[in-house]
Amino acid sequence: MNRLTMIPVALALVAVIPAQAESVDERVAASQAAIQDFAGSLQGHLMEAMQEGGPTEGISVCRQVAPQIAEDISAETGWSVGRTSLKLRNPDNAPDEWERAVLEQFEARRAAGEPASELVYHETVQEDGEEVFRFMRAIPTGGLCLTCHGSELGGDIQHALERLYPEDQAVGYSEGDVRGAFTIIQRM
Ligand code: HEC
Repeated sequence: MNRLTMIPVALALVAVIPAQAESVDERVAASQAAIQDFAGSLQGHLMEAMQEGGPTEGISVCRQVAPQIAEDISAETGWSVGRTSLKLRNPDNAPDEWERAVLEQFEARRAAGEPASELVYHETVQEDGEEVFRFMRAIPTGGLCLTCHGSELGGDIQHALERLYPEDQAVGYSEGDVRGAFTIIQRM
């Protein structure tokens, strides 16, 4: 895994994020762009690792590269950017109260027929006396994800996951389910 391959992500973002994102539309567009970069970069690294080293190599991408990309984009934008879920693999990704409510809203909208790929929610909220813009976009479960989040995991993967994540809840998903969400906090 080459850290240098992440540099283009950071550079690409400079172009899409206005110096002072002001209107809600601008904040939404900038959030979408950042998430696009996060998702694209992660998926690229994951597929490459799995092709070269198999699923166990993929685990180290999810474990090390995903938080690194989140950190890079957070540093680049000054926002807080991450991933969360109702059923966690890594407890560090636990949702706060607002995120939990949005994840539950996504589940309800999905149950009512909206595709997971279209679930987005944003709101300007007061936190500790400060106005913040919060944005979430659902992460759909694709075929590739089932290798590590599905119902039937290979022996190697299951062992590796049990060792690294003894309280893993992030299994049993089917294609099209909401696996979790990207989440962004922009201080205003
Ligand atoms: C090779 C195994 C593997 C594959 C394939 C995989 N994941 Fe994961 N996933 C993990 C691991 C390991 C973690 C825990 C990462 C960490 O420690 O932060 C994780 C964490 C996550 C999280 C963060 C929330 C949590 O539960 O901690 C989301 C969201 C997620 N994966 C979505 C996906 C999606 C969507 C796909 C398919 C595009 C996918 N994953 C494919 C192994 C995998």
